[in-house]
Amino acid sequence: MQFGSSIYLDYQATTPLDPRVIDKMSASYELSFANPHSTQHLLGQEAAREMDQARAEIENFIGAEAEEVIFTSGATEANNQAIASVLMASKGQRKTVLISAIEHKCIKNAAYFYADKFGAVVQEIPVLSTGLIDLDAYQAMLSDKVCLVCVMAVNNEIGTIQDIPLLAEMAHQQGALFHCDAAQAPEAVDIDTRHWQVDMLSLSAHKVYGPKGMGALFMKNLLQASLPPLIQGGGQQAGMRSGTVPTALCVGFAEALRLSREQAIASRARLTMLRQRLIEGLEQAGIAFSRNGSAEFCHPGNLNIQFEGIDASQLIEVMQPDLAASTGSACNSEMVLPSHVLKALGLSDEAVTASMRLSLGRFSDESQIDRAVEVIAKGISQL
Ligand SMILES: Cc1ncc(COP(=O)(O)O)c(C=O)c1O
Repeated sequence: MQFGSSIYLDYQATTPLDPRVIDKMSASYELSFANPHSTQHLLGQEAAREMDQARAEIENFIGAEAEEVIFTSGATEANNQAIASVLMASKGQRKTVLISAIEHKCIKNAAYFYADKFGAVVQEIPVLSTGLIDLDAYQAMLSDKVCLVCVMAVNNEIGTIQDIPLLAEMAHQQGALFHCDAAQAPEAVDIDTRHWQVDMLSLSAHKVYGPKGMGALFMKNLLQASLPPLIQGGGQQAGMRSGTVPTALCVGFAEALRLSREQAIASRARLTMLRQRLIEGLEQAGIAFSRNGSAEFCHPGNLNIQFEGIDASQLIEVMQPDLAASTGSACNSEMVLPSHVLKALGLSDEAVTASMRLSLGRFSDESQIDRAVEVIAKGISQL
């Protein structure tokens, strides 16, 4: 699949819609347009059935039980709800939120914002140079003052995959709740909320070839009664998230996750092979670079690298329109802030400036990878 004249290597910023997802969504837009909460008439009932089926499929894919998935507008909203609802409900001395130092901005900013509103404090768990949680530091930070721990499953900039079951168990030993931002996870690991022992988990459809503006918050049934919702309104979704649920987006999300699950093993092997081809191509072209983060525990489509003595933003600029990549998370690149993720790994300012994320995906192929190497080599020689 070609995207204009660009080779697209920015799949962790967002993914294109899979044509099979579009087909499912088109049918739903056409036939199930009725309000799924208008269940007095047959058309509303049919839309509700589609929405419920999509929810049940998603629950099945992530090992959740019935009614544990709440549809949201994306992972940003799901993350905000997870943090705000715990802080609204937290009583007594449990007024500390632990977040990893490499969380997405929507966890970071939501944690500081709601902590300030509800008289809590935020502490950041340091990571090792691989991006993996520093377990000794984490253990030392856990106490009976912690109400919530937030650690992402897979990092959006460096792709690091955390040991979520272990981290969740450590939080539970101190009586804290555990939330996991799994927006980047489906293409990299099999999500299993039961095995992972998470209390809450966030998902985003547009990272898995599904529609933008759609996501979900998994929340354990037992918790739902004790945590207030973030959005007030007509009481849809059992009052956990008011607002008319967009049926077609739910259908697209469920289909996207189904495809991701169905192809997981082959897709991860393919991405690993393509990434290796990219690494070897860059080496053979004589380009001086080094890799950021963990090579072992990494999203198979992620390659975050620093090019010696190069300003990666300038490199991306000179490569336009031939190659789409990015220097950090999408919102960071708009604001041109140094990546807090790379800084947390201990990288110097020069190393951060020289770093670029190449993220490969479902529609990447060998010829695109070979061409990308040529484009990067040409861009570097121009600089
Ligand atoms: C790890 C992570 N969390 C949250 C988000 C936000 O997701 P959404 O765009 O669905 O709000 C993203 C996407 O940029 C992400 O990569």
